[in-house]
Order: sequence, then structure tokens, then C-alpha cells
Amino acid sequence: AHSTSTLPHPPHRIPILGDLLTADPARPTQNFVDLTRRLGPIFDTKIFNQHLTVVSGPAQYTELCDEKRFGKHIGFSIQAARELAGDALFSAYSTESNWSRAHNILMPAFALSAMKCYHDTMLETVRGLIAYWDERAHDGTVDVHTDTSKLTLETIARIGFGYHFDPFTRTKPDPYAAAVSRLFAFLGRSAYRIPVPWMEAIVHRGEIRQKNSDMTYVRQVIDDVIQSRRQDPGGQFDDLLQLMLTTADPETGQFLDDENVRNQVFTFLNAGHETTSGTLSFALHLLATHPDVADQARDELHSLWPADTDPDPEFGDIHKLRYLRRVVDETLRLWPIAPGFFREPKQDTTLGGYTVAAGQAMFALTLQVHRDPVWGEDPLAFDPDRFLPERTRSRPAGIYKPFGTGMRSCIGRQFALHETVLALALILHRYDLEPEPGYQLEVAEEFTLKPVGLRLGLRRL
Ligand code: HEM
Repeated sequence: AHSTSTLPHPPHRIPILGDLLTADPARPTQNFVDLTRRLGPIFDTKIFNQHLTVVSGPAQYTELCDEKRFGKHIGFSIQAARELAGDALFSAYSTESNWSRAHNILMPAFALSAMKCYHDTMLETVRGLIAYWDERAHDGTVDVHTDTSKLTLETIARIGFGYHFDPFTRTKPDPYAAAVSRLFAFLGRSAYRIPVPWMEAIVHRGEIRQKNSDMTYVRQVIDDVIQSRRQDPGGQFDDLLQLMLTTADPETGQFLDDENVRNQVFTFLNAGHETTSGTLSFALHLLATHPDVADQARDELHSLWPADTDPDPEFGDIHKLRYLRRVVDETLRLWPIAPGFFREPKQDTTLGGYTVAAGQAMFALTLQVHRDPVWGEDPLAFDPDRFLPERTRSRPAGIYKPFGTGMRSCIGRQFALHETVLALALILHRYDLEPEPGYQLEVAEEFTLKPVGLRLGLRRL
């Protein structure tokens, strides 16, 4: 095998800065997809002194997901996230005791069967969005991503912590949501800042000051919720926070401490909100621009709730919406909101004909693998029926990973899917979606992918 120092890398690499001048901090993973065409299924990038091996060929990607040889890598933006979220689920090292403790305590709360407990709250929150959109449906277009973000933040806040932001009745943006979105933008840029702390502190001082004040504020909001819960030990709460405060790890008998609980709350509010809202936004864009698909999805909805009725979905109904679920699966193929994930070899090994060292930072580029010719003739076409069982069986396994892989894959998968299908069902049943004339999809990246400036006209059906 060749040494990784001979891996292909972007053109015009220079000393000290590495590939910084050709990097694209505003759209790093889309830039990787562009580079794949030139550099092939495995290549190296370097920003300052940090190397990252990008893996985008289906065969190499599948190998990289082998849990015996590779695991999650904590580096770059995830390392930066530890400053905010410590050893909470997403940012913990797999070997940290708080990871397995929280995983064991929380897994039952995220099983498919647990979604039954959350269904009514999800429904109520979606109805909040519908009422909000009803008022605006006649009045130009709606700002899709802003509004889907309000929906998903409210859902996870209520179900997670019994907290109401009431986003559809307040007139100003919620200060918590605004602070979090700034923090995420800051983290997303972290790999591109000067890796010398004293220089970084000078060059980026404004940004760092804002980050510190946002962090203090966000912690305060969450600590207040935990405090008030602690002061009400007899209260009846049926949410994730209560579970975390009162359940011991079945394996070790240990509880999570308050700081860890706060970090988990912060993690859930973030992981549970931008991802699901992005999925909804892209799905609405794709449905608006593919009216044939929207019609077919509506036919399926009408078989449960005829056009002239007001749908009252029950938990079990959501699983009957097979076509709509394929729409969501196909949306997450074309626009995997988490466009990739970090991996590292557990021991020195080889991948794609190159030796890779234990601990080496690698990036599994889902965004490219989901668009590889292995998907068929026209991999860029939006075709939900790709996810018919017979067509799924005819493809290699392991090339569809919108929720990551292995033991560190997404704990919120069922949660996200239930919420997304439910929300799309009510929206499609109620409105015809009209794209804004001339709109060209532009995708921004702040950890996750999001459509920029997406507006849709809604016509009441
Ligand atoms: C982890 C995607 C929704 C909570 C992940 C990972 C991916 C992902 C790719 C693995 C990250 C890595 O390997 O570094 C998504 C997508 C979602 C979604 C595409 C929506 C469509 C949610 C929701 C929640 C959630 C709704 C919570 C309510 C988490 C947590 C982890 C995680 C806690 C870390 C798990 C661990 O390491 O133990 N997600 N996610 N996610 N997700 Fe999600």
C-alpha cells in the first residue's frame, strides 16, 4: 500500500496555509464533492497543520464504516463542540464513561415504540405551524427554513424538557434560538481559524466575545430549567429531562450529574432541531418543484383522510404513509443534512490502497456517496421510488447513511422520521406548494446543510 503522504490533494497547496486558499469555509463538503471529480475516491486536504482524509468512493466508504476497524473521530468542529457540550452523547469519546451511561439511559426513550408518547405533542406543534401559515397563505410567500426551524425547536424543547418557546405567537426571534445559531456558525468556522490560540484571540476577538456571551446565555436558560425541575421533585413530568434526572444506568447503577444533563439538553436541542428542519425544508423544496411526486403523496394522504376532511393522524397512521416516507428517504439521499461524519482507524490499516494510521482524521463523505452512479442511471434525479424494497435490495448495502453509522449513529432517527412524515402529511394535505419563480437552490453549511432564501407560496386546498 502507498503512504498517505502520496494521496492526491487539491491543487495549489502551499506551505503553512495548506489548502486554505482553495478551501470553501462557507460550503466545505460541497467543495469536497467538487474535488472528488478531480481527485478520486480518497484524497487528502490540509488546513494549516491539520490533515483530513476524505473518503467518497462507495467501496472505501463502506469499508470505513466497518466498526471492527474504524470508529468515530473527535476532531475539528466536534472537538470545538466539546467546549459547549462537553462529553454529551454527540461530542463524547466512545471510551468516555458518560457516553455509555447516557446511551443506556436514553436509548429506550428513542425506540420506535417510544414515539407513541411524543406523537400528540408533535401533532400539536405541527398544528401551530399550520395555523401560523394559514394566516400567511394568502399573503405572498413564507420563509420555509425559518418556519420549519421554529417547528422543530419547539417540538424537541417540549418533548425534551417541557419548555415552550411559543415561536408561532411571538413577534421577535427567540433569543435562545438566535444565540444557538450564532454558536453553530462559530463552530462550523473553527477549522479555518488560525490554530495558534493567542493569534486567534486577537484576530477573531469580536467573534470570540460574542461566542462567550452566547454560551453564558444558553447555559443559563438550560440551568434555569434544570433548577426549577429540581425544586419540584414531586412534579409529574414525562420528558427526556425527567428521565435523565431520575434514571440510573441499568448497567452501572450510576446517574448523570447536573453538568452532564445540561450538556445533553443543549445537545438535544441542537441535534434535534437543525437537522429535522433542514430535512423538512429540502423535502418541501423538492415537492414544490416535483408536482407529480406531491400529487402522488397527496393521493396516499387522501386514502386516509379524504380531501374535504381535516386530518387527525394517529400514531399508527404515520407508518401507513409508505410513499411519503420514501419522499423523506429520497430527500435525505440527495440532501443528507449531515453531509458526512468523521472516522478514524482503531489500528494502523489500509484503505483504498493507502496505509492509514491509528487515530488519523478521516471524513466519510455521505453527500458524494449518495450521488454516486451506483444509485442508477440518473443519480441526481429526485425519484422516491428508488426506496421501493425491491430496488433497495438490488443495490449494494451500506451506501445510504444519512444517520451515520455504527454505535455512534443517530439516536434521534425515529424521532426525526416521525416528526418529518407527520409534518409533511399535514402540510401537503392542506396546501399546494408553489415555488418562487426563478429560485435556484443554494445550500449553506453550518455543520448541517440548509437551503438559503427558500420561499414558497402556499395555496389552501
Ligand atoms: C448523531 C444525523 C435528527 C440526536 C447523528 C449522526 C448523524 C445524525 C449523521 C452521527 C454523527 C457522527 O457520526 O459524528 C441526523 C439527521 C437527523 C437527525 C440527518 C434528522 C433528519 C436527530 C434528532 C435528535 C438527534 C431529532 C434528537 C432528538 C443525535 C445525537 C447524536 C446524533 C444525540 C449523537 C449520538 C451518539 O454519538 O451517541 N445524527 N440526526 N438527531 N444525533 Fe442525529
